[in-house]
Amino acid sequence: MKGRRSHFFSLLGPAILFLTIAVVIMIAVLVYAAADEAFGGNDALIAAVMLTVIVFFALLCIAIDAVRRKITVNGPVERILDATERIAAGDFSVRLETLHPYGRYNEFDAIIDNLNSMAAELAKTEVLRTDFISNVSHELKTPLAIIQNYSAALQDGALDAETRRRYAAVLAATAKRLSDLVSNILKLNKLENQEIRAERTPVRLDEMLAQAVLQYEDRIEEKGLLVECDLDEVSILSDPNYLEIVWNNLLSNAVKFTEAGGRVAVSLKRENGNAVVTVRDSGCGIPKETGARIFDKFYQGDTSHAQEGNGLGLALVKKVIDVLGGEISVESEVGKGSAFTVKLRGGDA
Ligand SMILES: Nc1ncnc2c1ncn2[C@@H]1O[C@H](COP(=O)(O)OP(=O)(O)O)[C@@H](O)[C@H]1O
Ligand SMILES: [Mg+2]
Repeated sequence: MKGRRSHFFSLLGPAILFLTIAVVIMIAVLVYAAADEAFGGNDALIAAVMLTVIVFFALLCIAIDAVRRKITVNGPVERILDATERIAAGDFSVRLETLHPYGRYNEFDAIIDNLNSMAAELAKTEVLRTDFISNVSHELKTPLAIIQNYSAALQDGALDAETRRRYAAVLAATAKRLSDLVSNILKLNKLENQEIRAERTPVRLDEMLAQAVLQYEDRIEEKGLLVECDLDEVSILSDPNYLEIVWNNLLSNAVKFTEAGGRVAVSLKRENGNAVVTVRDSGCGIPKETGARIFDKFYQGDTSHAQEGNGLGLALVKKVIDVLGGEISVESEVGKGSAFTVKLRGGDA
């Protein structure tokens, strides 16, 4: 429970009850003494006076208690009930005021506080859900438009063979982009729902990284990039399928965001029992304002490269590293380059 409950309030109820009983007994004793003096000897009259007094006080107490309950119990219960009905109907903007200031909370305040948090949490999830749907729809629309346009163009019988080949290549690349998008969304979804658990098998990180770099050989050659690898021999216990997602995304970003003739450096060291991988590039760099958002889903900082990728890469990388038990950090300077450092626990293997 978030709000601290005051013990004072939990003692107040019984104290009032016992005090009321004491007052009633005292009044009864006083009335008895007065009646005994007034009607001494007439027991029936004394009994009648006592009965009337007791009934009167009982009714008075019931009335006072009813008013008290109306104010302290029924009022808040009705407000809470009303709020839960609105939340159940999908209105997550509901916020109730607590009855007492923080620190003097009673049970109702604690319930109200939790209810407010629940509504706020639901509202946040709802925003994430609608954002996600509009992002996915947007990411699907662009490649679908390309596919529509190019396939329509291909139907033109007058096209020469070379142009046809080019258009077909665009179609294939676009279809691949769509399938990457869908598989990234599925992977992210699985990771977020914790549907899959990471395995822990011995992994030779240096070999893995060298393999990952080789996969980008063509693009590296195309752009005339200089690639340096400084890989110590390091093995850890981890999940190779997950790790592949991390290296592929970091390397593809480094290659993508570095101008032709630039430099990419990959290093692997063991530091204090952690495996530390750094992917450094001499590319366009990341401005401070966008740096905080690069791990968000669908966030793409540099719109000039927005044709490639869909902004899910680093979100996936971050999730994977969380699952594997590690950390990722970025250092970057606009125009000079970026360095992504991944620290992995996972023990010596
Ligand atoms: N090595 C890098 N150099 C410069 N900017 C980068 C680099 N890596 C990531 N970014 C920025 O972070 C954003 C998010 O990256 P990512 O999630 O991989 O999406 P995508 O690659 O699809 O654009 C990129 O759009 C880019 O603005
Ligand atoms: Mg990327």
